[in-house]
Amino acid sequence: MTSISVTVNGATKSHEVEPRMLLVHYLRETLGLTGTHVGCDTSQCGACCVCVDGIVVKSCTVLAVQADGAKVTTIEGMSAPGLLHPLQEAFWEEHGLQCGFCTPGMIMAADDLLRRNPTPTEQEIRAGLDGNLCRCTGYHNIVKAVQRAAGRMGQTRDTFTIEAMVGQTDEFPTPAKR
Ligand code: FES
Ligand code: FES
Repeated sequence: MTSISVTVNGATKSHEVEPRMLLVHYLRETLGLTGTHVGCDTSQCGACCVCVDGIVVKSCTVLAVQADGAKVTTIEGMSAPGLLHPLQEAFWEEHGLQCGFCTPGMIMAADDLLRRNPTPTEQEIRAGLDGNLCRCTGYHNIVKAVQRAAGRMGQTRDTFTIEAMVGQTDEFPTPAKR
């Protein structure tokens, strides 16, 4: 067993893990963060996407021990309790999901895309989400959702970084209570 300490959604977690444990299993099974999904065993679907030190990764391709000392954000950390991140809201408004299985990974990947390119074209969105598979939607509404979120987030970019949102409920410019 190996000791690791990882900051997940703003809280530091320390555990003994097997060196072979994948990050996705650490998040789901050890921490109970089941919003991160496992949709394949070939590293293709992207359902397991999380943000590690500011970069989106497929957490089924990372060992938990490799995340030692890192800051990890999962779908549960995208917004404060009771509020939706603009991407989550846009997916809802544009019906960017059906079964929802791919949605957490899609949103994590889309957030990474919008941090690198706040005003992506449709083609750039499709290329940016190339590593995320959806079995239901045909992608059209997912693209529309990312475009809608980009329009909203572009005006207040700093406020909508994951890091800025976590734990700062009072600073949301457009709170969306559900
Ligand atoms: S579960 Fe990680 S890419 Fe499919
Ligand atoms: S909404 Fe079902 S897999 Fe994408």
